[in-house]
Amino acid sequence: MRFFIDTADLDQIEEARDLGILDGVTTNPSLMAKSGITGAKNIEEHYKKICQLVDGDVSAEVIATDVKGIISEGEYLASLAPNIVVKVPMIKDGIKAISYFSSKGIKTNCTLVFSAGQAIIAAKAGASYISPFVGRVDDINWDGIALIEEIAEIYAIQMFETEILAASIRNARHIVQSAKAGADIATCPLHTIMGLLKHPLTENGLEKFLADYRKGNPA
Ligand code: G3P
Repeated sequence: MRFFIDTADLDQIEEARDLGILDGVTTNPSLMAKSGITGAKNIEEHYKKICQLVDGDVSAEVIATDVKGIISEGEYLASLAPNIVVKVPMIKDGIKAISYFSSKGIKTNCTLVFSAGQAIIAAKAGASYISPFVGRVDDINWDGIALIEEIAEIYAIQMFETEILAASIRNARHIVQSAKAGADIATCPLHTIMGLLKHPLTENGLEKFLADYRKGNPA
């Protein structure tokens, strides 16, 4: 399983990268705004900075919602750095644009996926990644992990090459469950990645090991 970090915060991206486990970055307009990055030019410059920090794929989301606009914006974003992936919403014009990008060899991440049907049409259009939003499905009392399982089963049966990028990951348990359900990648806020490290028995165990060492080796 690969790990992407779901943030526009450069410090957090660096911290995840320094763990040696970071395979890519996803952003969206909300995450940009959360990091105080507003205005097309600033956003563009910020993508360049992110792409300098990581070698892996960096999803940059289009704002346009019509096919012509999505294509011209996506082509521009893709020209900013070789590791940019154009993030396109799951709408009719988005699917048309994904088909176009796929024919031109431009990588795409189809975002705001909430059903297996949407996952099928995005794969048919040639999306490189789809982003099912696990946490937001849970928010409406459906089952986000069951959605990942269903998509993974269909993609395996149909031999679709589109990769499942589990998004809207809210806790470390979501990462574990997404891995089990067949997601290729989880894109996570830094705190959920750090959550994977934590176990009270590890903390207590280390404390005891160090205390016992100090007994025989006083400072
Ligand atoms: O990857 C999508 C993500 O940024 C949305 O997360 O927590 O706002 O549902 P959330």
